[in-house]
Amino acid sequence: MINETKQGTGGGLKPILDYLMKKRGFDFSGYHPAMLERRISQQLTAIACEDFNEYLSCLQKNPAELDNLLDVITINVSRFFRDTLTFELIADRILPTIVLEKARLGDHSLRIWSAGCARGEEPYSLVILIHELLEKDKIEMNLHLFATDIDCGALTDAGKALYPPSSIENIKHRLLMKYFTAEGAYFRLIPDIKKRVTFSLYDMLDKKHSVPPESVFGNFDLVLCRNLLIYFNIKYQETIFTKLYHSLSQNGILILGEAEEPAMAYRRHFSRVVDFSPIYRKRQVIKGEIHGCEE
Ligand SMILES: C[S@@+](CC[C@H](N)C(=O)[O-])C[C@H]1O[C@@H](n2cnc3c(N)ncnc32)[C@H](O)[C@@H]1O
Repeated sequence: MINETKQGTGGGLKPILDYLMKKRGFDFSGYHPAMLERRISQQLTAIACEDFNEYLSCLQKNPAELDNLLDVITINVSRFFRDTLTFELIADRILPTIVLEKARLGDHSLRIWSAGCARGEEPYSLVILIHELLEKDKIEMNLHLFATDIDCGALTDAGKALYPPSSIENIKHRLLMKYFTAEGAYFRLIPDIKKRVTFSLYDMLDKKHSVPPESVFGNFDLVLCRNLLIYFNIKYQETIFTKLYHSLSQNGILILGEAEEPAMAYRRHFSRVVDFSPIYRKRQVIKGEIHGCEE
C-alpha cells in the first residue's frame, strides 16, 4: 500500500497531538508526520504563533482553536461522483448485482456505510444511483445508509446539503436537474434524497464500537472507505482494515480510493472485482484458508 518511511509524529508535534487526544479523544499519532507538520505549521502561521510550544499554550488558553486545529488536520476535499469510472462501475455493475441478488432471495434491505464521508458528497451520490436503479427496475428496497466522519463541521455541512459548483462538476446534467435545486450560485439536494442518509460522528480508530453505533450491527452489503487510509501509517491502516473487514456481510463489497489498496495483512481477505478500479469483494479466511467467491 502506501509507502511508510517515517514513524512517529516529530518531537514538536507530540505534545499538541497528546493535548488533542486528551481533550477530544482523537488519536492522530498514526497520521503521516510530514502531512501533520505541514498542516499544523500553516495554522501556526495563520494565527501568528512562533513555534509548536507557543501554539500549544494558545490551544490551552483558547479551546475554540481546537476546532480550527481539527479542521486543518482533517481534509474534507470531496465531490459528487468523485472518480467517475468507479462510480460508473458502482452504477452499472455493483449495485445491480447486489440489489438483484437480494431481491431474488426476498431480502428487501440494503445496508451501506460511507466511512469518512466528508460533507456528504459520497453517500448522497450513492443514494442518487440507488434511486435511479430502483426506479428503473421498479424494485422496492429499504435503504439503510450510514455515513460517518470524525469532523463535526463537515457533518453539519452534510446535513445542510448545499453545495458550491466545484462539488457538482462531475454530475450528469440530467441528474443535476432531477436531484438538485439552484440557490444562487449553489445547488441544494432535494429532501427526498437527503433524508435517506443517517450521518453520525465516528472515529475509524474507535476501540469501543467496531461499527458506528447508529448502525447497531455491521453486516454491510457495501462499504466505501475512500481517500481516508492514505493519511495513516501502516499500523493504523491495519487497525482500520480489521474494522472494515468485520463490518462487511459475507461477500460484501469494499470500495477504496484510487490510490489505496488493502493493507498487507488483509490482502488475502479481499479479491479484486475489477482489475482497474479499487473495488474488492470480501473473502472468508478461516484458519489461513480462503473461502468464498473467486473473481
Ligand atoms: C479526503 S476526505 C474523503 C471524502 C470522501 N470519502 C471522498 O473520497 O471523496 C477524508 C475524510 O476522512 C475523514 N477522517 C479523517 N480521519 C478520520 C478518522 N480517524 N475517522 C473518521 N473519519 C476520518 C476526514 O474528516 C475527511 O472528511
